[in-house]
Amino acid sequence: MPTPELNATLVKREDLNEYLMVFKARFSDGPVPEFKPGQFAMIGLPPDPNRVILGKDGKPKKQPALVRRAYSIASAGNNADHLEFFVILVEDGELTPVMWKLQENSPLWIDKKIRGDFTLDDVPEGKDLLFIATGTGLAPFLSMLRTFGPHRWRRVAIIHGVRVSPDLGYRTMLEQFAKENPWFRYIPSVTREPEDSPYDGPRGRVPLLLTPDRFESLAGFPLDPNDAHVFLCGNPAMITDVEADLVKRGFSPHSRSKPDGNIHYERYW
Ligand SMILES: Cc1cc2nc3c(=O)[nH]c(=O)nc-3n(C[C@H](O)[C@H](O)[C@H](O)COP(=O)(O)OP(=O)(O)OC[C@H]3O[C@@H](n4cnc5c(N)ncnc54)[C@H](O)[C@@H]3O)c2cc1C
Ligand SMILES: NC(=O)c1ccc[n+]([C@@H]2O[C@H](COP(=O)([O-])OP(=O)(O)OC[C@H]3O[C@@H](n4cnc5c(N)ncnc54)[C@H](OP(=O)(O)O)[C@@H]3O)[C@@H](O)[C@H]2O)c1
Repeated sequence: MPTPELNATLVKREDLNEYLMVFKARFSDGPVPEFKPGQFAMIGLPPDPNRVILGKDGKPKKQPALVRRAYSIASAGNNADHLEFFVILVEDGELTPVMWKLQENSPLWIDKKIRGDFTLDDVPEGKDLLFIATGTGLAPFLSMLRTFGPHRWRRVAIIHGVRVSPDLGYRTMLEQFAKENPWFRYIPSVTREPEDSPYDGPRGRVPLLLTPDRFESLAGFPLDPNDAHVFLCGNPAMITDVEADLVKRGFSPHSRSKPDGNIHYERYW
């Protein structure tokens, strides 16, 4: 198969700290193809030629022409100008250390076939939505919020679980959004923040925020399986743990064969 050409350009890069970045990319030959909020794009870059990747047998692996990985789109579904991504550096990873060397105007490959089922397609209008993200798992929810409005849902709460408060990407934007929209609550939570830091929001892993009383006081609505759909994105262990808790509370997993389920998830690894 011929190597695809680097068909896009990084047009804006914002580093939130040394390991988190938001970047925007444009296709060189036309607008962003249509996609649904919640979907992801494959991004590819030539591998680091100085890096030796060992296979399962312990021998050096043949490097692909492009290292490709999936990234949820953070920009709105109707933004045909560019795609926005929220990415964390996995220091021993194959792609992200190469991605971190990109500068504005650097070329990259983005698959024009945008994919994924982590969308609102099977959610009826007028439901309560709970979006739960760890780390950069926030991205698909940003796309949903930037695309749809209150006609699409009744109430929305986002829980964003991170290690330390500098990892709360988009915090200012989401706090402002909550001030402007009474149907929306933003609930950050940190797990490794120093006790003496000025951060004064919730602390603890996501499941601690989901006990019925705590959740209702934070979100402004009860978590009722008859009224709500829950979307989980990011760390696979978080998804497994929260899903087990929700199933005990009467929720059921959504899948292609069970489209009426109300737990939706996207595992990042
Ligand atoms: C549908 C989908 C959407 C995704 N969207 C995003 C996104 O919007 N932003 C984003 O930052 N990442 C996202 N990811 C993860 C992304 O595809 C890569 O896996 C990640 O960037 C690491 O790539 P790498 O080549 O640097 O590391 P790899 O060489 O692929 O990874 C090395 C190891 O690190 C672990 N790992 C991989 N990703 C993570 C992670 N994010 N956190 C902790 N450990 C990890 C895994 O155990 C993996 O085996 C998504 C993954 C999927 C499946
Ligand atoms: N964040 C960083 O400081 C940092 C810096 C450089 C590189 N990285 C790289 O980026 C990767 C991703 O880091 P990340 O911080 O975005 O993601 P992460 O390790 O998944 O942590 C994000 C949040 O998820 C929580 N979590 C983990 N397991 C959970 C579970 N079973 N249930 C509920 N919550 C759970 C974590 O809590 P706990 O804190 O309790 O685990 C943390 O609050 C790392 O593996 C590393 O390779 C991270």
